[in-house]
Amino acid sequence: MKNIVLIGFMGTGKTSTGRLLAGRLGRPFIDTDRMMEHESGLAVSEMFARHGEAYFRAREKDLIARVSRRRKTVIATGGGAVLDPENMERLRAGGVIICLTASTQTILERTGRRNTRPLLARPDREEVVARMMAERAPLYAQADFVLDTSNIPPRVAAEKIIAFLRQGGHIHGRS
Ligand code: S3P
Repeated sequence: MKNIVLIGFMGTGKTSTGRLLAGRLGRPFIDTDRMMEHESGLAVSEMFARHGEAYFRAREKDLIARVSRRRKTVIATGGGAVLDPENMERLRAGGVIICLTASTQTILERTGRRNTRPLLARPDREEVVARMMAERAPLYAQADFVLDTSNIPPRVAAEKIIAFLRQGGHIHGRS
């Protein structure tokens, strides 16, 4: 059984949906941002502030190379993981790629609740979100399954992903 890899923009629900999905399937769950924080002892925002984005991306790439070797794991990636084609090749080699999307308005609401995302910690965040979403849209569209989470809670998103996985023969039985 392959990995189930969640990609998508910040605030589309990768972490909360991934955790629920892993629970429903009885599979381990890895969130690459949380794992990087755990390994480095630094919050993502601190990593950006102290070492810069390039450093963060290099660590993210290293971690993705390692977690891609696993199987039967639900992996939630950071929103920018898609920027590096090698990341996507590695994740795809061992996994089914699920992209979560949401409307710009939903993303602004969800990401506005906490100040944990360094790329959005700026006064012109609305423009930044719109620009980044447009730039990344073709990268997110490479997924095997795309699900809009604007109007559904993570529990329903997880159910819809399970239905897709079952239909595609990626999982069998009741799980
Ligand atoms: C980023 C998304 C974040 C985190 C970092 C950069 C991005 O992850 O990896 O702040 O470039 O989109 P989430 O998508 O989990 O917020």
